[in-house]
Amino acid sequence: MAKIVISGGEPLNGEVWISGAKNAVLPILASTLLCDESMSIGNVPHLHDVTTTMELLGQMGAQFIIDERMKIHVDPRHTHNFHAPYDLVKTMRASILVLGPLVARYGEAHVSLPGGCAIGSRPVDLHIRGLQALGAELVVENGYIHAKAKRLKGARVGMDLVTVTGTENIMMAAALASGTTVIENAAQEPEVVDLANCLNAMGAQVSGAGTNTITIQGVERLHGTHYDVLPDRIETGTFLVAGAITSGRVLLKKARPNTLDSVLSKLEQAGAHLNVGEDTIELDMRGNRPKAVTLTTAPYPAFPTDMQAQFVALNTVAEGVGVVTETVFENRFMHVQELQRLGADIRVEGNTAIIRGVPEMTGAPIMATDLRASACLVLAGLVAKGDTTVDRVYHIDRGYECIEEKLGMLGAKIRRLPS
Ligand code: UD1
Repeated sequence: MAKIVISGGEPLNGEVWISGAKNAVLPILASTLLCDESMSIGNVPHLHDVTTTMELLGQMGAQFIIDERMKIHVDPRHTHNFHAPYDLVKTMRASILVLGPLVARYGEAHVSLPGGCAIGSRPVDLHIRGLQALGAELVVENGYIHAKAKRLKGARVGMDLVTVTGTENIMMAAALASGTTVIENAAQEPEVVDLANCLNAMGAQVSGAGTNTITIQGVERLHGTHYDVLPDRIETGTFLVAGAITSGRVLLKKARPNTLDSVLSKLEQAGAHLNVGEDTIELDMRGNRPKAVTLTTAPYPAFPTDMQAQFVALNTVAEGVGVVTETVFENRFMHVQELQRLGADIRVEGNTAIIRGVPEMTGAPIMATDLRASACLVLAGLVAKGDTTVDRVYHIDRGYECIEEKLGMLGAKIRRLPS
């Protein structure tokens, strides 16, 4: 298994561009199933999850051409297989995003329940209930969701919890339903807005995305278009923390600063000087040790769970005590034990991590457990003295494009050891 080795302890200083957002491109790729013509998608990040989604859609019959600048042309007109198999879905939970489009466009879907989750621990019950409200018949049998429908009918869908992919699934299905659908307690994430903008460019009538009530007036068909994916706010936040944790300076280009308010405000509390332009963010922490910050994760516009692990890393070397509370996922502190191997002082109580900053950490072999945890371990490796070897880095390739090259452009001493 490939590993990443980081020789840490030096401030970063440099500039880097931000890639397209993983959590936007995945639903946008799924939405091409709704379309009667070919589509092209620009600013597509080169990520393992994108490859998995293309493999999934490819097995269904969609055809792809990728040009040299990561623009993807998708032709969904040969879709004939409505099956999302366990082997693919277990590697990427976001595969559930094909459920709504398949049932809306083709009246049939057979989608494996997502990897590592029986209905219960990380359920998809709200996706199922939302589609049932639109008139689909769904049964769960042998680990698969089997769905069928004639034309879906618009309805009021109240979400018990804020769910990002749940909102996206219902929004995509409702785009081709007859009549009006209103999603209440909808997710307000920028990636939901990006999907709505893409659907509207295909001829859909979606309004209210970015608020907690989304209204979709169904249309008969969607046509092809070109759409550029928005910049990745989590990649942006991760590189900003890389600058802050090393007491360095980073300039990020092709970013979307207005999707990061809660993260930028925590970085300012940590003592960073920020210079925000229309599509650039410069963070300067040179000469200063970060101050510990206290935060609680929650759905957008609050602090994102996908930045929690990176801020736990930042707090490990900060001045003072930071308290980080995770409210979105139950078991999202798996990075803590690995950080302790580097010398971090962290105590976990339920869904809260109490982090007392230490003046210095030292490198060690550590293991990535999931996507954002792996980013947090790389960040810790940048500041720990000596060599840190991060094992199981396939997790990071799911969501970060060219991580070693980009951190290298910022001056990090980082290299990949092939498996
Ligand atoms: C998306 C993001 C992920 C991010 C998460 C929360 C994508 C591809 N992934 O994941 O990076 O960490 O949002 O911001 O966009 N829940 C239910 N029933 C459901 C659906 C969700 O109980 O039917 C619960 C989940 O267990 C979790 C909470 O709702 O506790 C939020 O999950 P959700 O927003 O659905 O996460 P994802 O869409 O899977």
